[in-house]
Parts: sequence; structure tokens; C-alpha cells
Amino acid sequence: MEDQDLEWKEVGEVNEWKPNSGRLITIGARRLGVYRFEDRFYAVKDYCPHAGVSLVAGATAENSLREPVVTCMAHGWRFNLEDGCMVGGHGDCRVAAYPCRIVDDKVEVGV
Ligand code: FES
Repeated sequence: MEDQDLEWKEVGEVNEWKPNSGRLITIGARRLGVYRFEDRFYAVKDYCPHAGVSLVAGATAENSLREPVVTCMAHGWRFNLEDGCMVGGHGDCRVAAYPCRIVDDKVEVGV
């Protein structure tokens, strides 16, 4: 999707995220995990395609991310926060990923 087609939604202030962690954000009917890793923000659908567990639930503590990858706390499937693709196999298994941007210290997600 082109940037001009996106609707940008403010989801919080940068300092509401602990370093290298995620928070559950709801935008309409969408449940997203919005993650801060180092100086970047990422957003992916908060639904593990294996058995439907929340992905962000295991990543809310400070420094729970060691790389821009979230690990499902149920059975360990891992998803790249850049594009939502599963790390290490299972074909085209992925979760939806959404762009993020920072505007005046506010985090915005494009949907
Ligand atoms: S529910 Fe996520 S790995 Fe099983």
C-alpha cells in the first residue's frame, strides 16, 4: 500500500514504551502489537497464526526484545517485526505488518 493511501492513527507517546518492548494497541477492530526496538517502532497483528495467542503478551517487559523479532510465548514461533514473516520456516507463514512513524514524539501507525 502506498503511503498516501494510509490512514495514520496516533497510538501513544514515544516515552510510553519501555526500551525494547511492546504494547497492545487497539485501532477499531484491529488488535496490534506496537513494539519499540532501539530507536524504531514496529506494528504487527497481535495474533499468532499457530494457535491464536497474543504475540505481544510475552514482550511487554523492558528489554524483552533482543532484536526486531517477537517470539510467541506459547510455542516459540518467531516473527520478524519488519515484515511480519516467520523466522526460520513454515513457508509463507506471516502476520500482517503495518508501518510506523514518529510525529512530534507521538507514535503513529498506518492502517
Ligand atoms: S500459539 Fe504461537 S507458537 Fe503456538
